Formats: sequence, C-alpha cells, structure tokens
Amino acid sequence: MNDEFAHLPVLETRGRDRVRDLAEVFTAEREVEAMLDLVADSASSIEARFFEPSCGNGNFLVAILQRKLRTVFRRHKKTKPFEFNSLKALSSIYGVDIDGHNIRDARERMKMVMVDFYSTHLNTARQTEGFGNAIEYILQRNICVGDMLNGADSITFVEFSSPKINKFQQRTFRLSDMMESERFDWRGPPSIEETPMKNYWELGR
Ligand SMILES: C[S@@+](CC[C@H](N)C(=O)[O-])C[C@H]1O[C@@H](n2cnc3c(N)ncnc32)[C@H](O)[C@@H]1O
Repeated sequence: MNDEFAHLPVLETRGRDRVRDLAEVFTAEREVEAMLDLVADSASSIEARFFEPSCGNGNFLVAILQRKLRTVFRRHKKTKPFEFNSLKALSSIYGVDIDGHNIRDARERMKMVMVDFYSTHLNTARQTEGFGNAIEYILQRNICVGDMLNGADSITFVEFSSPKINKFQQRTFRLSDMMESERFDWRGPPSIEETPMKNYWELGR
C-alpha cells in the first residue's frame, strides 16, 4: 500500500460489480472495534439496542454481539441464566441489507458466535432443548433483507422484551412507522402485532 494511504482503513470488497451496484465495501475488524470503543458502554450492555441499516455481512453486528456476550458471561455463569441473557443480547441487535447473500452470511456468522461462545464457556453444560431454535428465530426476525431507501414500509422489527425471567414478550412494528414517529423508538408508533409472553426455549416453536 502507498504510504500516503497507510492511515486509511483497510476495507474488504467482494467484487467490482457489487461495489458499483451496492456500494459494498465492508469495514475491517480494526476499524469496527475502534468505532465500537467510542460507544463501549452501550456496546457491552446486554439490553442496549443497536440497528445497522446497511449491515453487509455483519461485521459490526458480530462485534457488538461478542462484546455483549462477554458481559453475559461475566454476570451469568449458570446454564439457564446464561442462555436467557445471551438471547436477550442477541435480540437487541438489528440489521437490514438489500442483499440476501449478505443477510444469510450475517445470520450465519452471528449464530456461530452464539454457538462458539456457548461451547467455549459452558462446555460441560447441557443445552436446554429449544435454545438453538430460539437463536434461529431471533436472527430471522432481527436480521432481514430490505431496501432502506424505498422499502421501509415492508420491513418489520420485533421488540423483544423480558418482563419476567426466562420469558420474552414480542411486539412487531413497521420500520416506516418508527421512522416517521417523533422519537425513533418503540414508544412512538403503534405495534401491528403482539405475541403473548413465552419461555425462551419456546420462542422457535
Ligand atoms: C459500504 S457497505 C457497508 C457494509 C457494512 N455496514 C460494513 O461496514 O461492513 C454498504 C452495504 O449497503 C447495502 N445496501 C446498498 N443499498 C441498500 C439499500 N437501499 N438498503 C439496504 N442496504 C443497502 C449493500 O448491500 C452493502 O452491504
């Protein structure tokens, strides 16, 4: 690399056509981590919600999830509290991309982070039946294909909340409603669907 550009981020691309059509240039890990350091408290909070509107193959989403899971493990070392809180962490992260391959990769990478983290830190524990399906379920809802410029009315997000230990309540919102409301959060627009509270191991059923 020319020395003149040595200070610039190293960016990853998957081909000229995709750079031209999708502006697809992924941010490298070093830059992702440096940017997350600027919001370090939120990025390591189990509950703080993150939304990436053009998430690519998930470089930011994966790094946020890793930070959140470190907090989960510091605080919750027993199987059920670990599982419940790691799902809380996962369900606080949202991503949209116009490209289906990117979304598939982002989901797969986030799933691997969940699986690897579990096997590294709880290697002797027996996974609760339904935990794996809950991971898949949350990823399907939170990380989705969509056009942020022309299709926000067909993108929906689920607000996962946990009024009780081990349980999740779900309210679905249309992204365009959230964008139009004065506050870009769940308190502004009406939800379009509500799902009664469920145990975390029943989420994917
Ligand atoms: C510059 S890349 C950034 C990817 C990721 N944020 C990162 O930093 O690694 C831009 C991404 O925007 C996506 N994209 C382009 N147009 C879009 C649109 N209208 N709605 C949603 N995503 C879009 C592309 O598919 C691409 O993955």
